[in-house]
Amino acid sequence: MSMDFTDQRLSYEKGSLDQQSVPASPFELLKTWMNEAIEQQVQEPYAMSLATCGADNKPSVRIVLMREITENGVVFYTNYESAKGQDIAENPNAEVLFFWHELERQIRIGGSIAKIDANKSAAYFQKRPHDSQVGAWVSQPQSGEVANREVMEQAFEALQNDYPENSQVPTPEFWGGYEITIHEIEFWQGRASRMHDRIVYTRDGNEANKKDASWSTKRLLP
Ligand SMILES: Cc1cc2nc3c(=O)[nH]c(=O)nc-3n(C[C@H](O)[C@H](O)[C@H](O)COP(=O)(O)O)c2cc1C
Repeated sequence: MSMDFTDQRLSYEKGSLDQQSVPASPFELLKTWMNEAIEQQVQEPYAMSLATCGADNKPSVRIVLMREITENGVVFYTNYESAKGQDIAENPNAEVLFFWHELERQIRIGGSIAKIDANKSAAYFQKRPHDSQVGAWVSQPQSGEVANREVMEQAFEALQNDYPENSQVPTPEFWGGYEITIHEIEFWQGRASRMHDRIVYTRDGNEANKKDASWSTKRLLP
């Protein structure tokens, strides 16, 4: 039996976006929209879909948590030996996507990914709750097959014995942050009659990694 959603439709009427009044830097708009999502109590507004594609040319997408907006882009943390880590090693181009239904907004970021400094990763790892730190050690290699849940739980318990609460869990070498340097970012605001507003910023020239990058904007058809 198929499931039919063709009668389901919403009219989006919560906001608008104008090319003339957007700020020169997309980082300003990204932070403004993020603050508005927090104010509107969007659950985990920093959860983003990350799409990668390795040498096999098969795209994969999954949620990761954005942990920082830097001067260049956005940072998330993961296992470097996971499926996504392998994709990124083969092809640094990626996209991330935020969708906040409460605000009828979507943000789409295209850019290139690189590992962040190991000291910064370690500093964040050491800030995480003890059990999450242990969990990171258990999930190695992340996305590898495991026979059953019991195997995971036994590994978790064994590590809890090695590193009791209040002891320092070492930062795994296979775990850390990635920064996506933003090359292009699209802000999408839903409008009535499918006449949505889409403004895209593109980084000018070859200025990746420069804080003082300038940006061009354009409006896209919805
Ligand atoms: C709400 C949510 C937040 C998540 N945050 C992260 C994260 O920050 N880092 C991470 O590695 N996986 C995170 N995951 C799990 C990933 O979606 C994914 O299952 C895992 O990273 C393995 O992906 P891979 O096989 O593509 O490497 C999160 C999942 C959800 C649903």
